[in-house]
Amino acid sequence: MKSHILKHAYGIPGFDEKNTQKQMLGDRLRLKQFKNALEQRVKPGDTVIDLGAGWGVLSIYAAQAGAKKVYAIEAHPKNIRKAKELVAKRKLSAKIEFIEGFSLDLNDSALPKVDLIVSETLNHSGLSEGIAHYLYDASGKWLKKGGRLMPIEVSVITARANIPPIELGIGISNCFPLHAKPEWLLEDPKTVETRTMGSPCHWAEVFGHTLTVDELRGHLVWFRAKLSDTVFIENKPGSKYTSWGQIYNKTTDEIFQDLRGGMSFNGIQI
Ligand SMILES: C[S@@+](CC[C@H](N)C(=O)[O-])C[C@H]1O[C@@H](n2cnc3c(N)ncnc32)[C@H](O)[C@@H]1O
Repeated sequence: MKSHILKHAYGIPGFDEKNTQKQMLGDRLRLKQFKNALEQRVKPGDTVIDLGAGWGVLSIYAAQAGAKKVYAIEAHPKNIRKAKELVAKRKLSAKIEFIEGFSLDLNDSALPKVDLIVSETLNHSGLSEGIAHYLYDASGKWLKKGGRLMPIEVSVITARANIPPIELGIGISNCFPLHAKPEWLLEDPKTVETRTMGSPCHWAEVFGHTLTVDELRGHLVWFRAKLSDTVFIENKPGSKYTSWGQIYNKTTDEIFQDLRGGMSFNGIQI
């Protein structure tokens, strides 16, 4: 599978927008949990890859936690320019090296083997930005024997929910992110999949879900990522605000309601 096709299927578009990066950097809980986990898991003198470095925040945390060298892989040149500025301000330019490119396109010899690979390529539902596939590919190419990955594992969690009509939106997709209230849940959440990072993951499995779209109708989907033995990040409804919401998959009734209202179907105006 050629990666130019994957780039569209995965989460690359939009990540060169200033506001997208700013929103992620404004997410205090996300940053705190990754910082804590890096402080626990980076050993002095480690070499680290930050896969999907954005503006370089996790590379900075890894260097501050004691890494000797961090290789920051980032697909968007615009992000690399900004990240280099931020790294220079912290006087870490000698420790952090940027590699421009999409990780799947880079070959084994593009980077040396490292002790730890960290990646925050998680989206609202956890796996569908491509993290499991990226980390499987990267660990085969660049992780030392006995090396570590962060996250360690990612779980996908779902629950049926009753979303107030006003929140369902007009003219948006059948499957979209929102920040749901816990009282909208109609059942106890279920973990439908826990995927260990670095385990085999074919590109077609990238969504990770064992459930079909039909089974997910009327459900909210979110994730829990284990970053270290004691540090987790979860975007469940009602938890402290994060830049991730939850993905809601409309029921067929809600989709037909849209159609009757002359709204849109999968984002296409009808
Ligand atoms: C969710 S953002 C996280 C950015 C940063 N690590 C942070 O925590 O703020 C993911 C970033 O990874 C980049 N990206 C996603 N997948 C990638 C891949 N396979 N190879 C290189 N860059 C990737 C995107 O362009 C984006 O800037």
